[in-house]
Amino acid sequence: MCGIIGIVSKNQVVDRLIDGLERLEYRGYDSAGIATISSSEIVHSKSTGKLVSLKNKIKQNPIDGHVGIGHTRWATHGEPIEVNAHPHVTKNVAVVHNGIIENFAEFKNGLLEKGIIFNSQTDTEVIARLVEEKISMEKCGPLEAVRLTIEKLRGSFALCFIFKGLENLIVVTRRGSPLALGFGDGENFVSSDALSLSIFSRKVCYLEEGDLATLTSDEVKIYDSFGNSVFRDTQILFTDPINLSKGQYKHFMEKEIFEQPEVISQVLGYYLNAFEGTLSLPSLPQSTEIQRIILIGCGTAFYSCLAAKYWFESLSGITTHAELASEFRYRSPVVRKDDLLIFVSQSGETADTIGALRFAKKYTKNILAVVNVEQSSIARESNWVFPTKAGPEIGVASTKAFICQLIVLKILNIKFASDLSKISVKNRSNLLNGLLELPRLYAEILSQNENIKKLCKKFIGSNSVLYLGRDVLYPIALEGALKLKEISYLHAEGYASGELKHGPIALIDESMPLVALNPWSKVFEKTLSNLEEVKARRGKIILFTDKKGKELSKDLTKSIFQLPSCSELLTPILYSLPLQLIAYYTALDKGTDVDQPRNLAKSVTVE
Ligand code: M6R
Repeated sequence: MCGIIGIVSKNQVVDRLIDGLERLEYRGYDSAGIATISSSEIVHSKSTGKLVSLKNKIKQNPIDGHVGIGHTRWATHGEPIEVNAHPHVTKNVAVVHNGIIENFAEFKNGLLEKGIIFNSQTDTEVIARLVEEKISMEKCGPLEAVRLTIEKLRGSFALCFIFKGLENLIVVTRRGSPLALGFGDGENFVSSDALSLSIFSRKVCYLEEGDLATLTSDEVKIYDSFGNSVFRDTQILFTDPINLSKGQYKHFMEKEIFEQPEVISQVLGYYLNAFEGTLSLPSLPQSTEIQRIILIGCGTAFYSCLAAKYWFESLSGITTHAELASEFRYRSPVVRKDDLLIFVSQSGETADTIGALRFAKKYTKNILAVVNVEQSSIARESNWVFPTKAGPEIGVASTKAFICQLIVLKILNIKFASDLSKISVKNRSNLLNGLLELPRLYAEILSQNENIKKLCKKFIGSNSVLYLGRDVLYPIALEGALKLKEISYLHAEGYASGELKHGPIALIDESMPLVALNPWSKVFEKTLSNLEEVKARRGKIILFTDKKGKELSKDLTKSIFQLPSCSELLTPILYSLPLQLIAYYTALDKGTDVDQPRNLAKSVTVE
């Protein structure tokens, strides 16, 4: 959730700490801070709001040092005010933290009873105070002080510490939250996100659960949770830093929407041989041995799971469930060894999804990840990995990563259906050809973005918007509503069209815009009837449909956007695009912070 970085070097580190934090700001942006050791003393600077305020503060009151740690915060304990910003500093210790300490209150009470005064409301300050106690009262060395402190902590954490008088040392540890180390020449780095290290070093390694490490400018030593010295494999990062710029676009979200034709080609190229019309897939469990599929994710990733549930049942004939990760493991679900569990995540670091994965692993080896970040915890802890190949997604609102999740799940769906002889060779080839058409269809829709922008005017003056879809477009209605809420702060709800009459229809009046997804399909007429019911109550219908659907809906509404026709099973992929554009243009109109909407963070690493 929060972003953390540390650098220890023979050179000055402050500017590079800020550069690193810029890459991490998408993880949290309600306050930021850095601490260094300068002339043996801990010095620090913190500021609320975006990183730019911290930058300005440091410009006015510069700090220096050869070792430092930095943090961008997404508030958990304590509101986003300066005293709660990280680093948390005591006499001898400064710490930055990503995660949540669940049992912090019991330690805080103990320390308060001893007369320790706290400056903040955070759980993190407790860690700093406990380590301080070990150093100043129990005379422990830095590594030992950290090791003894974390033994008592419950919850998730990635922590980086620096210490008064030690200008060539960072101590780090992790449990539940990721940490990557970067190796340089006369300098070493640590970060919650390997992507932010790519500007400093391409050689990285990932700490494992419970690891501790010490970093000096010349050396990195890693220890497991028992204190044994261990070796962790290094990898070379191939992320091109240019990918992380907005290019000609105003926002990352806009760029990520508009680059989808290329991104879709990329993912299709990875899994399909267009010339031979064949699939080329990583290994995966035998379809014939799978009794059920359980798809698990959060937020947008959950909606791709829900769309895939429709696909897996209708095309592959496999009983399929879609589950919210945050609910899954706490309701004692039944998982059998012949179930296939598919975990879907852009970041691969979502705490709820990781929790569900670890729960499921106790019952089955069939754990498959559909992830965008290929080195992420979810990928590393799964037995099969299907990367979504969307490239770095920086905008907090997921767009291209969602589309690539749908495509990868569709490909798996086709694979299972053909292995189980549920579809004919011809049908399989039609579906693969349909997928290959998507980049062109996306480009066609994007070229009409101005028309979609005009449709958003219907939202002016409304406090709420409804999204309706039926069958395989129901999950897309849910996703459309989530996108609008996230970045425009306009209330929106997605409903299955048939559900409207069971309650939500009470909301309909002349001020209620309703976005309907209804291309020609086996459920077209049913949905049309539902929309007639909306019209009868003067709801403002904005309809997305295809050519045939448009002809049959002429009397329903004047606000119709016609999408290209495609196979019914691919409509979720196509109909997601205009909803992304609607959310983006509405947010632009409202002047919200599109890439970093309030209260959100890109990667949710707390439960
Ligand atoms: O990284 P993940 O895909 O696991 O993230 C899951 C959700 O937090 C994420 O999809 C969230 O809902 C997005 N902000 C949606 O735009």
